[in-house]
Formats: sequence, structure tokens, C-alpha cells
Amino acid sequence: MKIKQLMVLALALLMLACAKNDDDMALNLIPYPVEVQRQDGFLTLDVENLTVSGDADFAVDQLNNQMAKLLNCQMKKSDKGIIQFRLVNDTDLPSEGYRLRVDDEIIIEATGKAGLLYGAHTLRQLFQREDDKLMVPRLSITDYPRFAWRGMHLDVSRHFFSVDEVKQFLDYMVMNKLNTFHWHLVDDQGWRLEIKKYPKLTEVGAWRDNIGFSANQEKGLNTKNTKPYGGYYTQDEVRDIVAYAADRNITIVPEIELPGHSAAALVAYPEYYCRNAGSLSIWDQAGVSAGVYCAGKESTFQFLEDVLAETMDLFPGEFIHIGGDETPKDTWLACPDCKKRMKQEGAHDEHALQSYFVHRIEKFLNQHSRRLIGWDEILDGGLAQSAAVMSWRGVAGGVKAAEAGHDVVMTPMFPYYFNHTQNHLSTSPGHPGISTLRDVYTFPSIPTDISAEKRSHVIGVQANMWSEYMPEFEHIEYNLFPRVFAISEVAWSPAIRKWEDFYTRVQHQLSVIEQLGVTPGDISYHVRINVEPDYADKSAGIEFVTERPNPVYYTIDGTQPTPDSKLYEGSFRLREDAHIKAIQFKADGSSTHQSEKELIFHKAFGKPYKLKYAYAPQYDGGGEYGLTNGFLGVEVGVEEKPIDLVIDLGEVTDISHINSRFKNAPMSWVFGPKKVTYQVSADGELFEQVAVFEPGVTQSDVNEMVDYPADFELTKARYVRVVAESVGICPSWHPAAGGKAWLFSDEVIVR
Ligand code: ACM
Ligand code: ZN
Repeated sequence: MKIKQLMVLALALLMLACAKNDDDMALNLIPYPVEVQRQDGFLTLDVENLTVSGDADFAVDQLNNQMAKLLNCQMKKSDKGIIQFRLVNDTDLPSEGYRLRVDDEIIIEATGKAGLLYGAHTLRQLFQREDDKLMVPRLSITDYPRFAWRGMHLDVSRHFFSVDEVKQFLDYMVMNKLNTFHWHLVDDQGWRLEIKKYPKLTEVGAWRDNIGFSANQEKGLNTKNTKPYGGYYTQDEVRDIVAYAADRNITIVPEIELPGHSAAALVAYPEYYCRNAGSLSIWDQAGVSAGVYCAGKESTFQFLEDVLAETMDLFPGEFIHIGGDETPKDTWLACPDCKKRMKQEGAHDEHALQSYFVHRIEKFLNQHSRRLIGWDEILDGGLAQSAAVMSWRGVAGGVKAAEAGHDVVMTPMFPYYFNHTQNHLSTSPGHPGISTLRDVYTFPSIPTDISAEKRSHVIGVQANMWSEYMPEFEHIEYNLFPRVFAISEVAWSPAIRKWEDFYTRVQHQLSVIEQLGVTPGDISYHVRINVEPDYADKSAGIEFVTERPNPVYYTIDGTQPTPDSKLYEGSFRLREDAHIKAIQFKADGSSTHQSEKELIFHKAFGKPYKLKYAYAPQYDGGGEYGLTNGFLGVEVGVEEKPIDLVIDLGEVTDISHINSRFKNAPMSWVFGPKKVTYQVSADGELFEQVAVFEPGVTQSDVNEMVDYPADFELTKARYVRVVAESVGICPSWHPAAGGKAWLFSDEVIVR
């Protein structure tokens, strides 16, 4: 290790050590309590004599298992314990809250079982074993949750997880004071819930020919390709899991996907599929099948009501999740029954038909005193006021829903989809796309665009675990930890704390979870390069953000950084084209990867443009100037339609070069353009074509950015138009043939 590195590391350690002396920081609690008052010293308990009394049976039973593994001791019930659990009538204490006092004894008070349970989990985190003693810091804590809905989701359709694994997942939730388990029970790839009236749902719909998802085999991620592959939960097993969850203050929200994502159900009962729609198979790959319930047949609704009635019998919670996302509606438009329904109901298009479908199901749930929740697509066409919305396509759906008076659960896919990997290791299981621990921790969970008086409609946050690329439970654990600590604290604690403080507590909690036998995900050695362009100043501020405290070394000329390169000491500003590369080295001097970003102060830098077809809110390229912000690497995404933009350079300018860049990643439903043309104009009316490319579209599974550079004779122009034609719909060779395709564009460079 170089001297410079040693010095920086020593400084970092010193800073951590100083911070540790701060009382508040020395408590390695997650989620961090609302109010902590430290007193001097520790209460020392004899491990042979850890007596508890009061309303504690359920908490003690649950904790002793962990105590045995972590601390090699257990609590024992007694009439007058050193640890006392008390149910109190304290009107100041919010629901699920508790008070914990450690002086010469330990008192946990709450108004209900939930608070006592959470107090017990906090106490377990406070115990430190030293020889035959348990040391507990003297303190008093008052604690209660920020959000009522503190959710974790698990997809058991794409891959099936056993009853024991689901229970394990619930254990991880309660340890993190999460209280809502969104159980994604059905999808195109398998139906997992026994329904007595429709036995084929599980006899047929729970089994696919192969485990599928070939990317997993290529990565060596699965060992269980039983044929057929699948499984389901019997109603007895579900009742057992529901009770197990309730003991942990967890409400289960079952998801019965409709009208789309329904191939497994429709293979079992094809009579509820549209007429003339062809045949379906149970999917063994990612994506969305054409499987959609026929909205025209009355029998479809009878079937769904029967299924939902049995579902409601099993799950006592207030909410039933009905999916509602990514409905493939083309089938409806070709179905005589659906067309008839549209006419009858005055539904002018397929979106209105989806709205009819959701409304009808909602009415049924409301008649049974339940509330509907669904993915943010259910907002299209209007909803009854009592329905709640899960915002997954970014935060826009959450803003729209809250403003319209609906309760909202924020689960934007970046960063709350934990199926995205959290580090940059090619071996990590999960979907491509990175959501780091820090991304989860620092994301603004209540969108700032929601007006102050509507904020209370955000009832919670949730992290989702889609299991396409996690065939085994150990992969779920790998992707859950350590990020579950971040969602825990975001959901529970009133404010997020300094990153360095959280990171230190995470290190401690990781050692705990490893003692429980979990292999958590690696924390990334990634350097995020943030660029803050200043268009008026023709410059850009550069900031590096890391998860780990290790130093960062960087270059701006595109060369490979080494430990002799410039050491990052704080944000800086650039005014010239640059190719930034930055690395964080591991303690042994090795590195896992480097980050890079190209900055180009070209003639369209910071110039406004108009897009003929709007980008999707979740692919906004970084906002208003996404295509002219001067840096490469964040794309604008448009579904089905062309990317057709006109940039206004502000004045007539000499130009002789245009380059635009498009993504080609067909297996992510993103196709390169069919044709790209560049046109220029002095007045914005009359455009002259200066270049054309016709790359066409070929079958492949690449994931690449393709440049379309054009040099032409020096021209005077104020307006630059780029027209990139989309393939529109996925071609016949594609797994989602007929589905809508995406077109993704990066910076348009003008010189
Ligand atoms: C979703 O991720 N399709 C809700
Ligand atoms: Zn139909």
C-alpha cells in the first residue's frame, strides 16, 4: 500500500473512531429509534439468569432462537424478571410504538403486542456478550414508526420458495420492523395458491416444463431443474404462514394479478381467455406474455370473484392486490366478446376497458369490506377513492395518485426493486441495473412533487423482490441484505441520518446476519460520478459518491487511474471535454471495476429541444436536458413511437457534425432504430436532410450503445432535427413478439 493510501485510510479510521465516541453513534441499531437518551455505563446481566416477565411469551419465543445463535444464551420466563414487558395505556405512544428503559432493570412498554415485539427486537440489538455476561447500555428509548405500510414483496411465481423459506423471509422482515408482506402469488410463470373451486390452477398452472430463465443457467445460478418445475401453497400452508406472519406483526397482502400476467391461470382454464386469441403456454422466461383475461365474458368475472372470495377467506388483511400492470390489451381489440363489452360500456378504447375491469373487481372487493391496491397503471381511466396505488414506474404514478386523493405506497423500481443487483459484480444474481445500498438509503421516499396537504396519502414504502434471476433462496438473501437495512430505516425512522453513521451500523448488522448463516450481498466499490452542468457558465461540477469510505483515485484524460493518480478531495469543476475515470481500490490494492463518464461541451450543450413523442417518466434521461446535458450514459426512453426531436441552438451556428447514440438491447425490449435521419434548418420551418442511416434490426441478444456519427459540409443552422424510427412492436422472433418496443437515446452531439 502506498503512503498516500495509508494516510487517507488512517484519516478515515480516525474519523470513524471519533464518530463512535459520540453516544448516539455508538448504538448499532437499525432502524434507528426516534429518540434515544444515553446514560453512563452498562447494565450487566448474568447469561444464566436472563429472566423475563409480563406480556412477553410471543416475543421471547421468537427471540430466543436468534439469541441462542448470536449470544449463546436464552431468556427464561419468571414472575419477576429483570426484563419486564408491560402493556400500558399510554395515549402519547403511537400505534406499534414502544418505550424501552435500561437502568437497573429493563422495562419495555407498549400499548399493544406489536410495540412489545419491536421493543424486544431493539433490545436484542443492544445486547453485547462478554464472557458469561450480557452488557446492555443504560438508556431510554421512545420509538414508533414513520410509515404504517413498511413493505417487502416476494415473487414466488417466477421461482418458487418453500413454506420454510417464506417464513425465513418473514423473520428477516420483523427483525427490520417491516410489517407488510406483499406476496406475489401468481403470474405468467406459475400459479402458486390452492383454490378449491378451481383445482387446475395448481394441478396445471403451478407447473412449467422447465425451470427456464436461461441466463441463470449460464451464470451457474441454479441447481434445481426438476421437470416439471414449480410448486404451490395449500390453503392449510397459507393459513399457517398467515398466522406465523401475524405473530410477527406482519400483514400479508396477497396479489392476484389481473387482467394481464395471467398465462398460468389461462393455460389451466383457457375458457377465460379471449376468443380467437391462440394458445398460451406457462412461461419459463422473463417478460410479459399475451395472457390476459377476456373482459367480455361474464364467466371471467365469476371465475375471478370465486378466486378472490377464497383468497379473502385466507388473508384477513384490509388490502387485496390485483396487479393491473403491463396488460397486453391488443388481444382485447381482436376479441368479439371484448368488443361487445366496449360498446355496451361506452369504453372508447382498450384503456377504458381496463378501467372497467378494475372498477368491477374493486366493487366486488369493497362489497366484502376490502380495499383494492394495484400497480400504478390502474390510475388510467380513474379509480374509486378508496383504492390505493403502488407507484412502481418511478414516482410519477405516486404523485398523480396522491394528488387525486388515493393512498399510495412508494415502490419506484429504482431504487426499491431489490431484484436489481446492488453491486457491480458480474456474478451477482439479479436483473441488470444497479440499486446500491446508498441509493436505497438516500432516495427521497415521499416525492417532493406531492403538495404538502396530500403528503399524508403516502402511507408507506416497499421494496420488491422479483425472482426471475434469483432461482434459489440464497439469492433472495444475497439481494435482501444489506439493502433491507436501508428500507427498514427509511420506513421506520423519522429522518435518514448521515451516510457514514448508517454505514457503520450496517457493518455491525452484517456481522449479525452472517452469524445467522446468511451470505449478504457485497457492498459495491463503485464510484458514482455525478455531473451538475451549468449551461450558462458552459461548465460542469463533478462529484464522486461512494458507499465505502476507501479513497477514490481518478483521471480526466481517459487513462486508467492508479494509486498514483489524483486523489479525490472534494467536488471540482470542468470546462473542457473530458473522459473521467475513477476507481476505489480494495485494501489489498485490487479493484473490481472502474467508473467512467464522458463530458462533451458541444454546440448543443444545454440547448432546449422539443420531442414530438413524450419519453416515459421512468426513462427521462435525467430531465429536461437529458439529450443535451453534455454527458453520456443516461438515456431517454420512448415506447413504441419514434424519437423525433428538434434542438434549438439559440442562434444560427456553423455546424458540420452530428452524432446521436441509441441503445440496442432486444432482450430488454429495447431495439436500435430502424432508420435515423439528421436535418438542419435556419428558420425551424424548412429542414434540409444532411445524413441518413438505415441500420435495420437483426435478431440478437446484444446490449450495446450504437453511435450514428455524420460529418457533412459546413452548414449554417439554428435548428437540428433527429428522427429515429422505432421498430414499434417486438418482431416475430422476439419472446414478446407483438408487444411494444422501446427506443432509448443518449446525448445528441452537435459540432
Ligand atoms: C411491475 O414491476 N411490473 C409491477
Ligand atoms: Zn375477450
